[in-house]
Amino acid sequence: MSGIKICGAGHYAPPKLVSNADLEKIVDTNDEWITSRTGIKTRHHCVEETHSDMCRHAAQTALERAGIKPEEIGVCIVATFSSDFLSPNAASLLQRDLGLLNDTVCFDINAACSGFLFAIHTAECLLAASPRKYGLVLGAEMLSRFINWEDRGTCVLFGDAAGAAVVEWNEEYESLGAVLHCEGDSEMLGVTGSGHKAPPQIFMQGQQVFKFAVNAVPSCMDQALTRSGKTIDDVDFFVFHQANTRIIDLAVRKYHIPEEKYYKNIEKYGNTSAASIPMVLSELTELGKVGPGSRVMLVGFGGGRAWGAALAEFK
Ligand code: ACO
Repeated sequence: MSGIKICGAGHYAPPKLVSNADLEKIVDTNDEWITSRTGIKTRHHCVEETHSDMCRHAAQTALERAGIKPEEIGVCIVATFSSDFLSPNAASLLQRDLGLLNDTVCFDINAACSGFLFAIHTAECLLAASPRKYGLVLGAEMLSRFINWEDRGTCVLFGDAAGAAVVEWNEEYESLGAVLHCEGDSEMLGVTGSGHKAPPQIFMQGQQVFKFAVNAVPSCMDQALTRSGKTIDDVDFFVFHQANTRIIDLAVRKYHIPEEKYYKNIEKYGNTSAASIPMVLSELTELGKVGPGSRVMLVGFGGGRAWGAALAEFK
């Protein structure tokens, strides 16, 4: 047996709030449509802040809450597709800004909205071989830079934010038992990149995403439970990617998850892609809804048709 536990979590969202009423002034939409279809009321957009600023704030909070010093970190991974530079990567900018030792393994992972799951699983594997047993794992996105303001079906959905978790590896801890999937779908939901002939922009076929998500979510939850030998009742809290309130509601109804065991912050932040899962972890610790010994199920799904689930315990 070996695995990781979460020692602390932090998050950051830039101060500029964009409400549904603000969007009504620039696109043909309305508060009633956005709220009823998605659950979103506001989202945060960067003005002066950089992607690195968001990462630094979230990581500093996570380190403080965990009581861990930068020099104790052996692995630092940022899940993102919207960092300040293609090179250097966001994790090595964080290495510089926080004063992590320069032999810390620092790199970025891109698995869109499921990125934090891919990153925390990778951290678990790498920490087993690291001389320092603490890892720093972030999800951070500046999606406001990739919004297509001509597309009212997507421009209302996304926000900017970063979330971070400090994890500790120990041979006595249970593994995350992560189940991760991807299918390389470049039609349903994604963001065009610097090598593409179209400008960098988010694109989405909303109804296809909805159908994909309502199947992928329960399927990977079942797989994660089977892999870890746990039942739904062994889970203290469910942390879903915050894409759409209706997708979360369907999963909650399917598993009869009581209100006190899941959380939604999509109303405040919109969809923040890779940041959404660690943002929820951070808010849950602030609210005292999880604490030492809490077992949480992390569930992600999204862009490029990547999805997965994992079980993580708080130290
Ligand atoms: N305001 C007002 N009307 C709108 C807006 C808007 N912002 N966007 C679309 N509409 C209109 C459309 O033009 C269309 O009008 P029409 O019937 O006159 O042609 C009507 O609303 C229905 O459009 P659909 O695209 O069919 O809207 P749908 O009911 O599918 O809702 C939504 C769109 C909310 C995105 C839905 O498909 C959905 O929930 N998808 C799940 C995907 C998701 O949540 N994506 C978020 C990010 S992805 C992720 O993180 C996994």
